[in-house]
Amino acid sequence: MTRASAPAPSQDDFPNAFLDDVLSGLSQPQKSLPCRWFYDARGSALFERITALPEYYLTRTETAILERVAPDLAAMMGPDAVLVEYGAGASVKTRILLDAAKDLRAYVPIDVSEGFLLETADRLRADYPILEVRPVVADFLSEIALPPLSDPAGRRVGFFPGSTVGNLSDADIDRFLRQARRMLGADGRFILGFDRVKPLSVLLPAYDDAQGVTADFNLNLLRRINRELDGDFDLSGFDHEARWNDAASRVEMHLVAHRAQTVRVGGQTFDFSPGETIHTEDSRKFTPERMKALCARAGWSVEALHSDPDEAFSVAVLRPA
Ligand code: AVJ
Repeated sequence: MTRASAPAPSQDDFPNAFLDDVLSGLSQPQKSLPCRWFYDARGSALFERITALPEYYLTRTETAILERVAPDLAAMMGPDAVLVEYGAGASVKTRILLDAAKDLRAYVPIDVSEGFLLETADRLRADYPILEVRPVVADFLSEIALPPLSDPAGRRVGFFPGSTVGNLSDADIDRFLRQARRMLGADGRFILGFDRVKPLSVLLPAYDDAQGVTADFNLNLLRRINRELDGDFDLSGFDHEARWNDAASRVEMHLVAHRAQTVRVGGQTFDFSPGETIHTEDSRKFTPERMKALCARAGWSVEALHSDPDEAFSVAVLRPA
């Protein structure tokens, strides 16, 4: 991305992208909204609360795995490595790797949210003074060039934690992993966190917690549409629902209209019949075999698979096939 005098564009600079997504999503027979729009300031704060909920096992389980295998990951990265994180957010889990890999050369966090990304980069520079921190403002699904680094560096290692991979379709996973393969090179590695198939008695409460934080997170999308796109959603007309789609092996989040209503957004009207839903998120759950097959298709093989004792979550280390 070239930068002249104007700041690099961020997701926030394109209100039309949000409007386009909302208008086209609400025009489909099955209404849907892309989950990437969850993360305005309030949505990001609600997600932070979700990660601490007793029902939401994902974050704490992955964190425990990373803490346990961090020395192995540091050895795998080797001296002067470049760690590239896709959709970096607050880089909380990254610190586990940065603390273990003392001889890491550079950290390249990629995120669409510029303000957040640059703040995080400044904090990391203060805490890791010898680390070269080179943030890139971009959508991690787009074609991205690595920023130039000061000296020849070691191995390039991708980092994609949090089961964000579970939000993506097969086609997007394929495109993304192929592009990462090109960016990270023949000696590259990729650390990939993914959530595992497990009983519904565990999966569904993780997306429909007792305190209603996830419901608030889901409904916040309507609040955001009202505020940013001059919409008139009545939030009391919608309920949060988490449902398991067995054929697709995923938890789906929906907003269910519990009565007939008409909503205006951006000068257009959208009718809801009672029980009609807006599909707002897919969180796919994988078996190791399924994930292996998706990786193989994109040119990666699984070098190591690290899991918690219950096999609730896995962190795979990929190498070029
Ligand atoms: C951040 C995409 C991994 O799918 O589990 C949490 C988002 N949605 N609760 C997930 C989310 C509802 C989360 N990811």
